[in-house]
Amino acid sequence: MSREPEVISAGEKTEKEGRVIKTRIMKAVGKMPDDREVMELSADIIKNGGLVAIPTETVYGLAGNALDPKASGKIYKAKGRPSDNPLIVHIADIKDLKVLSPDIPENAYKLAEKFWPGPLTMILNKSEIVPKATTGGLDTVAVRMPSNEIAREFIRACGGFIAAPSANTSGRPSCTTALHVKEDLDGRIELIIDGGDVGIGLESTIIDLTGAVPCLLRPGYISLEELISVVKNVDVDPVIAGKESRMPPKAPGMKYRHYAPRGELTIISGEREKVISYINEKTARAKKDGIKAAVLACSENRACYDSALVYDAGSIYNEEEIAHNLFSVLRRFDEEGVQLIYSEEFNTPNIGMAIMNRLIKAAGNKIIKV
Ligand code: TXA
Ligand code: MG
Repeated sequence: MSREPEVISAGEKTEKEGRVIKTRIMKAVGKMPDDREVMELSADIIKNGGLVAIPTETVYGLAGNALDPKASGKIYKAKGRPSDNPLIVHIADIKDLKVLSPDIPENAYKLAEKFWPGPLTMILNKSEIVPKATTGGLDTVAVRMPSNEIAREFIRACGGFIAAPSANTSGRPSCTTALHVKEDLDGRIELIIDGGDVGIGLESTIIDLTGAVPCLLRPGYISLEELISVVKNVDVDPVIAGKESRMPPKAPGMKYRHYAPRGELTIISGEREKVISYINEKTARAKKDGIKAAVLACSENRACYDSALVYDAGSIYNEEEIAHNLFSVLRRFDEEGVQLIYSEEFNTPNIGMAIMNRLIKAAGNKIIKV
């Protein structure tokens, strides 16, 4: 019989036990000796089993010692994350890959050569040293080498093997600033390293290399075409393409509702003029009914909406800008107490797959075709 994964709410637990932690925030620049103090403090916290939020080039991560099951346990608690949703192990040096996996396929080295350090996570068979508490009970391990200098300095200072999911409370949009992390995790972790705004704004691309054919499990900044340019043949997990599948997604985290603002988000799909007039109709109706509604649009269409609350994700011709802004805009809906959100689609050429994957999840799959 399969059991429902255990979900522990950090807030309740720490308050019950009277252990609300004082969270410090310290800045880092990604260069020694300027970061010495923050790195020494981080190493101390991590070696004692504590948690530190760190910037990466994708989103902020919630870091703990990946080889310590107790530290992984604390990560799940702090995020309120289901215990079957495995963590990514972050390394700073390619030589450390061998420690995590006993049988690394040739494709892993090819991909690492091209995309590491950077926003790519690879799934490999795990070695004994990686606790199942870190891999959500799986025999495989997700590994990534981030390019952010602060992250790499941190990983080295803390012993080389850092488990780090995105540093948001489970279910909320990932954090692209230290302030977002504070909103979600204040009182639950020892330290937040503030490295400023992240660069990319969407989590890493995940590719599974444990099967006969590499399989894309989560789209990200590195596109399917770029992966294919290195490993030739890549399958796509049907779940991320939005297709119906009887199989659960291969990345357990992809089955949970995610990135969701508190207001009800609906994506409106179709010809530009039809989308605009449908959304205008809906927001006018909401206004009459006393419901606070907002629109998520590209800069080019912004002025076409009558609603008082139109959020600009960026230019449709600048997909990096849209990726970078998406999560912080989703968080702003909450700050404004928006109850209904209508969003355009952002089907941009390369990272559009990743942008739409996150947006569709945030909308709980609610798409209306007009
Ligand atoms: O960009 C990123 O990847 C960020 C930064 C902090 O590095 N991290 C991140 O972690 O997004 P997280 O935990 O929010 O998402 C990790 C995803 C989840 O969907 C999880 O289910 C999947 O990776 N995953 C982890 N280990 C896996 C494994 N062994 N097999 C399949 N999926 C795995
Ligand atoms: Mg996440």
